[in-house]
Amino acid sequence: MRRPLVAGNWKMHGTCASIKQLLNELAEQDLPTSVDVAVFPGLIHLQAAIAQASQGSIVVGSQDCAVQLEEGAMTGETSALQLEDIGCSMVLVGHSERRQLQEETDSVICRKFIAAQAAGLTPVLCVGETLAEREAGLAVATVQKQVDAVLVELGADVLHNAVIAYEPVWAIGTGLTATPEQAQEIHAQIREHVAQYSAPIAQQVRILYGGSVKAANAAELFAQADIDGGLVGGASLNAKEFSAICRAAGN
Ligand code: PGA
Repeated sequence: MRRPLVAGNWKMHGTCASIKQLLNELAEQDLPTSVDVAVFPGLIHLQAAIAQASQGSIVVGSQDCAVQLEEGAMTGETSALQLEDIGCSMVLVGHSERRQLQEETDSVICRKFIAAQAAGLTPVLCVGETLAEREAGLAVATVQKQVDAVLVELGADVLHNAVIAYEPVWAIGTGLTATPEQAQEIHAQIREHVAQYSAPIAQQVRILYGGSVKAANAAELFAQADIDGGLVGGASLNAKEFSAICRAAGN
């Protein structure tokens, strides 16, 4: 049995005051003990969020890390070791917004994945096809290539301490959600693909769905055999909505 994980990606949202309030509100919610819950605030709010979350069960992660593990001359970057030093335990790598806005390539993403694990952080490898790729019948090939960018170089064992998040780009922040069947199909394909490297690891690795997850559609998505939780953007900024999504993962 894979333990569900629900992760809130707060993106470039919030102020010191609003983040504090959101975490306070989350602490008052009824979060299921059978589900791992993580939040990913912006870099500038990480330390405060970690201090505040340390009183409860919510884990805090970073939305990004540098390709280089050790500190060095990399203006504006933050290394995975520095993130670990302040108490981070997870990091998103390869989010589609970074692939698009920062032009992150598969090889950069693989280096970030390596740096994250070397620092003892759990990377959440985000994969997903664009609408054009889906319409061209390339959804499966696209996500397989993105998964292979890590697995070909590092082997499947690295997935012992990693999470995969399938996020169709056309569903992120658009209100369009993949149907449970569409999502399940890709999740099953990802798991089958990982099984070509290692069947036991394919069974064990958690694959989250992301893309306009909300309380109203979470239960149906999480009921699918190969969906092990969610990576939630917009809806994670509302404590009631996010905790309802967490509860849906626990049922
Ligand atoms: P969304 O974002 O839930 O707002 O679609 C998901 C994500 O980008 O991780």
